[in-house]
Amino acid sequence: MSSDTNGYALHRNYHSSARLNAQNHLWKDALGYSLHPCIGLSPDHVPRIADIGTGTGIWMMDVKREYPAAQIDGFDVSLAQCPPPEWLPDGVRLRELDLYEPLPAELEGIYDVVHLRLFFVVIRNNDPSPVLQNLLRMLKPGGWLQWSEHNYESWSVQSVGGRETTPALDEMMKMMKQTGLGEWVPGLPDTFARHGMVDVRKELHPCSPHSRVYWSQLQFNSNEEYSYLAMENSSSDAAGPRLRNLICKAADECRQGAGFDFTIEVALGRKPMKDS
Ligand SMILES: C[S@@+](CC[C@H](N)C(=O)[O-])C[C@H]1O[C@@H](n2cnc3c(N)ncnc32)[C@H](O)[C@@H]1O
Repeated sequence: MSSDTNGYALHRNYHSSARLNAQNHLWKDALGYSLHPCIGLSPDHVPRIADIGTGTGIWMMDVKREYPAAQIDGFDVSLAQCPPPEWLPDGVRLRELDLYEPLPAELEGIYDVVHLRLFFVVIRNNDPSPVLQNLLRMLKPGGWLQWSEHNYESWSVQSVGGRETTPALDEMMKMMKQTGLGEWVPGLPDTFARHGMVDVRKELHPCSPHSRVYWSQLQFNSNEEYSYLAMENSSSDAAGPRLRNLICKAADECRQGAGFDFTIEVALGRKPMKDS
């Protein structure tokens, strides 16, 4: 397994890439769209769309299918999980970009839509503002930002009738909540408004009961990666090995009819037409 993660708390190997691709399917299933209908792109328009932290680039492939004329640029600090540029559909390009660095001038004000998904392990100090400033710079006046994340406030453990206790799933959820990752998510629309964005809205999409098992399986994968990269592993009773032990027990509970329940939060807003 590659450990070349440059401070990113998840791997970029084939397991992680398969996890992201499966997650794309579940995400779209929960939302019912790739791009929110309020963005209202017309099929004959040639919109410029940026996907930030594109991962494997899988979201762009769905959008390209839905808006064949779109020019879509995928950005990521590492393109290690993406297909080779030669195999991308026409009109889809990739470029390395660190969203915590100053934005290159040629990327300013050129996108109709900027999309970002699953940045909760990337956001530093519980503050999305530095990233948001760069995203806003990329947008044309009037352009839309769509940013979706897990809403951890809504995270719970559910089980089918008859199963009395789920200690491992409960403990795992508690541990992940204690990391504080994603605490800023519910406040994202307020952060948009504070940065002068207009037409701000927030949508919550609950996951369907059958998908709890699928989401839990993905969560076991990402937590296992996190346990190796972001936790203490110096002894057999350190936090990393303890979490992996818990994941094995939680996976057993899941097989017996229990799992995590999540809500996905989508924050939307536009850059104003004129600077206020
Ligand atoms: C959890 S993945 C999500 C991938 C994709 N958005 C998706 O939903 O499938 C987070 C992505 O953010 C990228 N990333 C991490 N730090 C970044 C940074 N400073 N600038 C740009 N991308 C970054 C990672 O390389 C990774 O591909």
